[in-house]
Amino acid sequence: MTDITRETEAALAAIAAAPNLAALEALRLETLGKKGWVSLALKTLGTMRPEERQQAAPAIQSARAAIAEAIEVRKAALEAAELEARLARETIDLTLPAPVQPRGSVHPVSQVMDELAEIFADLGFAVASGPEIEDDWHNFTALNMDETHPARAMHDTFYFPDRTPEGREVLLRTHTSPVQIRAMQEHGAPLRIIAPGRVYRSDSDATHTPMFHQIEGLVIDKDIHLGHLKWTLETFLKAFFEREDIVLRLRPSYFPFTEPSVEIDVGYAMEGGRRIVGGSGDEPGHAWMEVLGSGMVNRRVIAAAGLDPDEWQGFAFGTGVDRLAQLKYGMNDLRAFFDGDPRWLAHYGFSPFDQPTLSAGVGARA
Ligand code: DAH
Repeated sequence: MTDITRETEAALAAIAAAPNLAALEALRLETLGKKGWVSLALKTLGTMRPEERQQAAPAIQSARAAIAEAIEVRKAALEAAELEARLARETIDLTLPAPVQPRGSVHPVSQVMDELAEIFADLGFAVASGPEIEDDWHNFTALNMDETHPARAMHDTFYFPDRTPEGREVLLRTHTSPVQIRAMQEHGAPLRIIAPGRVYRSDSDATHTPMFHQIEGLVIDKDIHLGHLKWTLETFLKAFFEREDIVLRLRPSYFPFTEPSVEIDVGYAMEGGRRIVGGSGDEPGHAWMEVLGSGMVNRRVIAAAGLDPDEWQGFAFGTGVDRLAQLKYGMNDLRAFFDGDPRWLAHYGFSPFDQPTLSAGVGARA
């Protein structure tokens, strides 16, 4: 009997001190397991004479009960401790962004329009807009293209069957230049605006889509001259292409709404099948490429918008946003711009977290 008592006490002490669940399980097998000493002791009861059994049985039974209970208690304590340790170890920072890729991306045209707005905001230009469904007075007549002007025919205009209450023809604007008229009428002078937006022409091939994007610029003030125009466009192109070595060539040209008119060329070189803007077009291996139309605003346009051309002068410029995007980010086929193919967008799109800003720079990092 004293053997059992001693063994039981030793077992209870070991169980209470079991360092982990594995050690506890080993102790359970040693005691209550099939070959454990408690189980073996129970088996010996069957071989005893009745009086012996009556005496021995309670001690063995109570040893078994005490050990079983001690194991349960220790097991619960060890499990609770293990859970505590795991909770302390596994931390989740709920303020971290989810580990999934953002699925949307910013279209290169939107990206470039944001970049343009940011660059010109730095130069003091506000963003203006006008309707895409225009009348022929704003789109043509006020811009010095009356009904008989040959430039009207060159614009491949989409016309609507109806007219405005004033009897004007209604059309999809063929360029952003009518915003010049609307901005002067609405805000007067002095004025510094850019107007990015959609324009429409009945034309479609690899380099033309019936809808495309332009950006217009207009400065109206006193004593404005071509030097202001050149400096502004040079500053803009250097910021946009993020290169200091941009060289401009001003080439005499003709637009009805500017006088004199100049087309702006920049020097570029071919690198890896792409046009890389930079350097003079007269350098070896370089050529010139037209990037903007511009000029001093025609007196007749200033007058049509209700301002006195003897008091106010200005310059204007316009160009294709899609073409600027193609040049800067190297996309060949214009039609893919408007297919809405998510694979194209995933490849050429920009992260919505990379907004061009004056403080962080307008160049996209994507
Ligand atoms: N509106 C012209 C076009 O669509 C582009 C343009 C040229 C705009 C010269 C201007 C400008 O403001 O001065 O082809």
